[in-house]
Amino acid sequence: MKNGSQVIVRPARNVRGSVRLPGDKSISHRYAMLAGIAEGPSRLENYSTGADCASTLRCMRSLGVAWECKAGNLIEVQGRGMALSAPSTALDCGNSGSTMRMLSGVVAGQKFTSEMVGDESLSRRPMARVITPLSAMGAQIASQDGKPPLRITGAALKAIDYAMPVASAQVKSCLLFAGLFADGETRIEEPLRTRDHGEVALRAFGAQLSRKSCGSGNEIRIRGGQRLRGIEARVPGDLSSAAFFLCAAALFPGSQLTVPSLLMNPTRARLLDILMQIGLRISVTQLDEIHGELVGSLQVEGGRLAQATIAGADSAALIDEIPVLAAIAPYTEQGIEVRDAKELRVKESDRIAAVATNLRLMGAQVDEREDGLMIPGGQTLRGAELDSFGDHRIAMAFAVAALRAQGETLIRGAESAAISYPAFFQMLEEVTER
Ligand code: S3P
Repeated sequence: MKNGSQVIVRPARNVRGSVRLPGDKSISHRYAMLAGIAEGPSRLENYSTGADCASTLRCMRSLGVAWECKAGNLIEVQGRGMALSAPSTALDCGNSGSTMRMLSGVVAGQKFTSEMVGDESLSRRPMARVITPLSAMGAQIASQDGKPPLRITGAALKAIDYAMPVASAQVKSCLLFAGLFADGETRIEEPLRTRDHGEVALRAFGAQLSRKSCGSGNEIRIRGGQRLRGIEARVPGDLSSAAFFLCAAALFPGSQLTVPSLLMNPTRARLLDILMQIGLRISVTQLDEIHGELVGSLQVEGGRLAQATIAGADSAALIDEIPVLAAIAPYTEQGIEVRDAKELRVKESDRIAAVATNLRLMGAQVDEREDGLMIPGGQTLRGAELDSFGDHRIAMAFAVAALRAQGETLIRGAESAAISYPAFFQMLEEVTER
């Protein structure tokens, strides 16, 4: 889809079929980065098809890592070991905060200067959360008042003992990656448990690290100077992309959906608990583990749409799924309340404002709060002209909300779905019955 694309979503009667999802975005980013600094080749099957993960691969190429993309989204990477080569142009992270934040941990340990740039949305996003700890480790980082572009001059890093003020898996992975290049043992404390794909992937590539719970979060220790070796892996289906289909299924009592080979990592699967609490019937079969990541097949059936409150640790665990849960909230019996989610304001868009604006355009009553939303249930929505705000998850969330609205919904800037899931609108059409 070209920039400025519009998609019209018509109301549906039901959702039925099977959706096989491209590889998880969070895991794909980490595998691509670690494969680049590992020794020997890696084969990454079912790599994410999203533009964000392509940005990571392009940055790795600019840092001297050779890779090829084969049929089936198989990426073959020739690892270079820990020493990358100086890029001749700026590393373009596109729309991807994950690329900029996590890769900054790798380039901070190199013997050269890297410039990291992003698009307009990424250029507004906070980077102090990686600049502060990486500077404490010895990297020199210039920014635009804590925002991109970043100019990172690598150094022989020193290990740090760091309690992260924000619960962010991107920052945690950035510091663990930087910890590989540091002299000594780096200790990181997270205030709440966040997704652990960085830890799991580091172990898959042969690194040793220790983790124990610490308050409501974790403490992770990693020793510098470890070397990684390449892996052969299949990336599990993206659970955050599956969320749109699961929420679509939840809208219709007779819906039936199968989702094979889906990521089931417990730090991501809170979504399934919330959907079951709301009334979706979910069963999981064929559980398996690949390089430490749980994978399973889901069968879901729509039932009731009760209510939910998302707050505290759940808000961090569901941070990428809150937009779609909020978008279906008016159709629930008693509504959905989201609290403690102010991080949503600094995502690809201000997701609290974007959700509130679009829901109101569809005629819903919404109470927007600084750190969340209160959306009463039992509401009837009407089709409307909406904007994606250039944000993939907003475009997809409102395509789902549109399925139960009265009349058609037009979504402007629908092409942004390609940031994480280019085939989203086709797949949604395939599983909706009208
Ligand atoms: C991600 C972590 C989350 C999430 C993002 C992907 C990751 O961001 O919103 O889509 O892969 O670690 P934060 O770490 O900023 O919360």
